[in-house]
Amino acid sequence: MKLPPFLEEDRIEVDQALDRLLPPEATMPATIHRAMRYSVMAGGKRIRPALCVETAGLFESDRRAAIEVGCALEFIHTYSLIHDDLPALDNDDLRRGKPTCHKQFGEAMAILAGDGLLTLAFVTLSKAPIPAERLVRVIREISTGAGTVNGMVGGQVADVEAEGKPVDAATLEYIHRSKTAALIRASATAGALAGSASEDDIARIRRFGEKIGWAFQVVDDILDVEESSAALGKTAGKDQKQQKATYPALYGLEKSHETADRLCAEAMAELAPYRARAERIRELAQFLTARRA
Ligand code: IPE
Ligand code: IPE
Ligand code: MG
Ligand code: MG
Ligand code: MG
Repeated sequence: MKLPPFLEEDRIEVDQALDRLLPPEATMPATIHRAMRYSVMAGGKRIRPALCVETAGLFESDRRAAIEVGCALEFIHTYSLIHDDLPALDNDDLRRGKPTCHKQFGEAMAILAGDGLLTLAFVTLSKAPIPAERLVRVIREISTGAGTVNGMVGGQVADVEAEGKPVDAATLEYIHRSKTAALIRASATAGALAGSASEDDIARIRRFGEKIGWAFQVVDDILDVEESSAALGKTAGKDQKQQKATYPALYGLEKSHETADRLCAEAMAELAPYRARAERIRELAQFLTARRA
């Protein structure tokens, strides 16, 4: 998929840092390091690191620190994808255009590679060049977003439990805000925390991240219906087959598009005080809802 030029710049820099931070393939026990590298380096848009880096840029933070925090976010995100694809969860064969981690390395190694990436994320955060007091807040923000209370794992639990059942609006909202928006919100907020953002700025960026993250999952649901597996690099049309709780399933495609656009506009409104300084983040937010993969 083609990224806007500045996002492509961020992606290249993030990919170099990911390569540096992941243990080399030959490090013992080699199998898990091969599996971790396989899934992280398979590609991916790197939108969580980009949100962190671009938000940090709004508040004059050290770019290198923001890149490392972004890598930690990408490790957590990739772990969530590996586990999401397991037979016990979504049972998927294709991810980032390649066989899923468990298809390539077996289920035991895929579970452990996910565990390894989650752990590596916190090793990485502990070394990020950010003043200690701010760094603790970055760690709290990210670990909360990835956790069980209104966080990624909690959302995944609700997603699995809603499978095959009629879903109501409140549950659907909970699933999307938790499984996806929470980590995206943490990505933007961590960037603000890594820089010199005021408490007002941090709260504002958190609201922005929540809305754009929510929109992002609505669009993910839409693309599952509208796009092909080849375009997505993951199995298309599987939400309906697995009777997943999605926006198109509950509201239809047209309303889902409207919801994504409305959430994107609400996210954009939070950026108004930053005027021209937030142009790159606006472009990024636009891309997150207009993307086709
Ligand atoms: C896919 O995330 C899973 C969701 C939370 C919707 P991305 O669309 O960011 O996947 P990659 O990282 O680009 O592969
Ligand atoms: C997954 O949602 C969200 C995660 C926390 C990984 P989906 O199950 O819709 O993600 P895809 O479509 O498999 O990427
Ligand atoms: Mg899932
Ligand atoms: Mg899935
Ligand atoms: Mg999906």
